[in-house]
Amino acid sequence: MYRTHTCGELRLADAGTTVTLAGWVQRARDLGGMTFVDLRDRFGITQLTFNAESNAALRETARSLGRECVVQVVGTVRERESKNPHMPTGEVEIFCAELKVLNSAKTPPFTIEEETDGGEELRAKYRYLDLRRANVRRHFELRHRMAIEVRNYLSAQHFLEVETPVLIKSTPEGARDFVVPSRMNQGEFYALPQSPQTFKQLLMVAGFDRYFQLVKCFRDEDLRADRQPEFTQIDCEMAFVEQEDILNTFEGMAKHLFKAIHGLEFTETFPRMSFDEAMKNYGCDKPDLRFGMKFNELNDLVKGKGFKVFDEAELVVGINAEGCAGWSRKQTDALIDFVKRPQIGATGIVFVKWTEEGLKSTVDKFFTPEQLQTWASRLGMKQGDLLCIMAGKADKTRKQLNELRLHLGDLLGVRDPKVFKPLWVIDFPLLEQDEETGRWHAMHHPFTAPKPEDAQKLVSQQDLGSVRANAYDLVINGTEIGGGSIRIHDRTMQEAMFRVLGFSDEDARYKFGFLMDAFEYGAPPHGGAAFGFDRWVALFGHRTDIREFIAFPKNNAGRDVMIDAPSRIDEIQLKELGLSVKG
Ligand code: AMO
Repeated sequence: MYRTHTCGELRLADAGTTVTLAGWVQRARDLGGMTFVDLRDRFGITQLTFNAESNAALRETARSLGRECVVQVVGTVRERESKNPHMPTGEVEIFCAELKVLNSAKTPPFTIEEETDGGEELRAKYRYLDLRRANVRRHFELRHRMAIEVRNYLSAQHFLEVETPVLIKSTPEGARDFVVPSRMNQGEFYALPQSPQTFKQLLMVAGFDRYFQLVKCFRDEDLRADRQPEFTQIDCEMAFVEQEDILNTFEGMAKHLFKAIHGLEFTETFPRMSFDEAMKNYGCDKPDLRFGMKFNELNDLVKGKGFKVFDEAELVVGINAEGCAGWSRKQTDALIDFVKRPQIGATGIVFVKWTEEGLKSTVDKFFTPEQLQTWASRLGMKQGDLLCIMAGKADKTRKQLNELRLHLGDLLGVRDPKVFKPLWVIDFPLLEQDEETGRWHAMHHPFTAPKPEDAQKLVSQQDLGSVRANAYDLVINGTEIGGGSIRIHDRTMQEAMFRVLGFSDEDARYKFGFLMDAFEYGAPPHGGAAFGFDRWVALFGHRTDIREFIAFPKNNAGRDVMIDAPSRIDEIQLKELGLSVKG
C-alpha cells in the first residue's frame, strides 16, 4: 500500500498512530539537530521530522531531498512542539522511521508556491507543474463543485444528460469552424461543433423533453480573456416551453449555484432589461450593474449654441462620475487618451466639473452657467461630481461611452469581483445588418424564432431591422454568462429565415435539410439556452481570465505551448487524407 493517509488529513487525535504517506517534497530544511521535510499532495502538507535519534543514513537522505521529488515515508504521528495554526495539519508531525524515494525530480523551472516566480509563458509550457500550486488547483476544485451542482439541479428538474457528436457539419454560431478532413471521404470535411444547437433541437423532436450537456464547443475566433477556441457550455433545451418557463428554470439554476457555492440567497427575481433599454442606458447589451453611471442623452439641451461638435453630432450623451470634480487636468487628460485609443476611436470628452466655485466646463465659451445647470439636473449631478460627455454617431458614441463608463468603474474601484449583479437582457432583435455589405445576419443564430407578432415581417422580408426575438442573455457583472432563445420549429419559417440570411434554397437544404426534414415529423415548440461554463467558474472564482480555470488552455495565438500544437502532419498522413499543404 502506497499510503494509509493523505497529506491533508492527520490531526492531533491521530497522535501515536503509525502511518504511511506519499507525496512531493515541498521543501527540506535543517534546523540545528533536526531535519524537517514538508510533504505535499493534493489534500495538503504534512511535516516530516528527522532528528538525532533517527537512523543517520535516513536523515542524510532526508536532508538531500530536492524539491518536487516523490517520496514515501512510514512514521509515527506526534504532537508538534511549535505548532502552525495556519495549516490544518499544523499541530502534528510524522516522526519518520522509513523513507523511500519513489522518483527523483529535476529542479522545477519555477517555484511551486502560491506566489511563484514563473512568468506566464513558462508556466504554460510546464502547466502540469503550475497545476501543482494550491491556488491553481483550487480553481479546479471550484469547477468540479460547480459541475456537480449544475448536474444535481438539472437532474432534479428532469433534464437528461445526452452526449452529442463532435464530428459534425457546421452549426453557425457566428465564428469560423474548425474542420477535420475525412480519410474515408476524401475532399470532405467534418466541422467541430460551435455548439450542439441542431442536435439538441433534434432531441426535442425525439421527445426527450429536457436535455442538458456539459459539452466542449469549438470556435475559431479571435481570442480574449473570456474566449478560448475550445470551451465548455452548460447546454440545455426544453420542449413545450415559453420564454418565461426557460427564464424561470435557469434563474433557478443560477440561484442554486449562488447558494451552493457562495452561500448567497437571491430572493428577488433577477432584473430584466430589454436590449433597447440596455443599449440606450449603458451602450452595451451586457451592462455591469454593480455601479450606476447610467447614460443620459443631452441632444435637446446642447444643440444650436454654436459648439460644432455637439451641433453636428447625432447623439450627445453623458455620464456622471460622482465625487470626481477634484480630478486633476492630468487625470482627465488620461481619460481622453483612453477613449482616443484606436480600439475605442473617440475624438474626445467634454467635462463639466461642479466645484465650490460652481459649474465649470471645457466648453464654457459656448454655454452659460444656466445651460450647464440644465445638464447637471438631467444627470442628477451634485457638487463634487464630474460630468463626462461624448458626441458623434449614435451607435458608435454609445459604445465609446460604455468603454469610458467601465474604465471609470475600474478606476473608482466599484467593480468588486466579490459582488454579483445578475440580470436578464431580453427582446433582442432577430437580425442585424452589416453596414458595409447590407447583408442580414442572425443576432443569436439562424434557429431563433421571431416573436409571433413579427413573424410576418420575416416571411415578407419587410422592416427586418424591427423584427424582435424571444431571445435572452444572462448577464452577471457585465459578462455574458449565457444566452438562448425560443426556436423555429416549422419548416416554412426556417426556410424564410435562411432566405433572409442570403442562403439559396438549395444551399439551405444542403446544410440544414436534416433539421428542416425533422421539423416535418412532429417537432414540438421548444427553446433553450447555453451558459459558458468556463466563464461562470471564473466569475465565481472572482477572476476575469477563463484560462485560469481550464486545465490545459490555449494561449492568445491559439497554441498549446505545452504540447506544441497545432503542428504539422507528415506526408503519409496528408496523402491518406488527400491533402496537400501549400508552401
Ligand atoms: P452562445 O454563442 O451565446 O449561444 O454561447 C453560449 C455561451 O457560451 C459562452 N461562450 C464562450 N466561452 C468561452 N469561449 C468562447 N469562445 C465562447 N463563446 C461563447 C458564453 C455564451 O454566452 N447554441 C447557443 C445557445 C442556445 O441558443 O441555446 C449558443 O451557443 O458565455
